[in-house]
Amino acid sequence: MINNKYYQIAIDGPSGAGKTTIAKKIAEKLNFLFVNTGGMYRCYAIALKDVDLSNELQIQKIMSNNHVSLTPTKLFLNNKDVTELASSAEISALASKIGTISVVRKKCVADQQEIAKSQNVVMEGRDITTTVLPNATLKIFLTASIQERANRRMKQFPTNEIYESIIEAMKNRDFQDSHRSISPLIKTPDAIELNSDNKSINEVVDEIIKLFYEKIRSEKC
Ligand code: DC
Repeated sequence: MINNKYYQIAIDGPSGAGKTTIAKKIAEKLNFLFVNTGGMYRCYAIALKDVDLSNELQIQKIMSNNHVSLTPTKLFLNNKDVTELASSAEISALASKIGTISVVRKKCVADQQEIAKSQNVVMEGRDITTTVLPNATLKIFLTASIQERANRRMKQFPTNEIYESIIEAMKNRDFQDSHRSISPLIKTPDAIELNSDNKSINEVVDEIIKLFYEKIRSEKC
């Protein structure tokens, strides 16, 4: 904490760039809270699975009647562990789709800002550097090649999906996440871009922690 302000490390980037694993490790090392905002969208996607997505009132009602909670490794919807279901191809695509809906974003952004009000956080997602934490202490835009990202997804969530269909689904999701009208995934001018290809998780973690310490040292001067 500096000048009564909590530290915020904001990490945005496409799926499979390593955001979740890296943000979690940074949070552990710095003793900050890790917030996986994609997990929130995935939980709400499960809650909204059978809802008419053109009916905003219905969406709002379902979102306020369903309780989403996260731990560093698990996702819960109404206290039920939905971690595995949330990682499925169907829910991944639906999370990206509901992420284009204004009422969904408003609720998620407000909840995320509330969390960051009272503690140091490492928060990762698509709109953290632009919308959720626009004054974050450090902003990172984490990328990797699509081949590397698809390989990681196959290793992380072994499924029967073939490599080509994973690449195709990722391209669709990237397009939707970066072309939606509200808070699209973009790199802000003050974010530092890091490419995680050919780097170990620990190398990227150490690099971001080094950048964080440099940033707070420069702010203190
Ligand atoms: O980070 P992830 O792959 O778990 O995110 C799943 C989807 O949720 C992603 O395709 C778009 C949406 N999302 C979002 O719109 N804004 C965020 N801050 C995080 C995720």
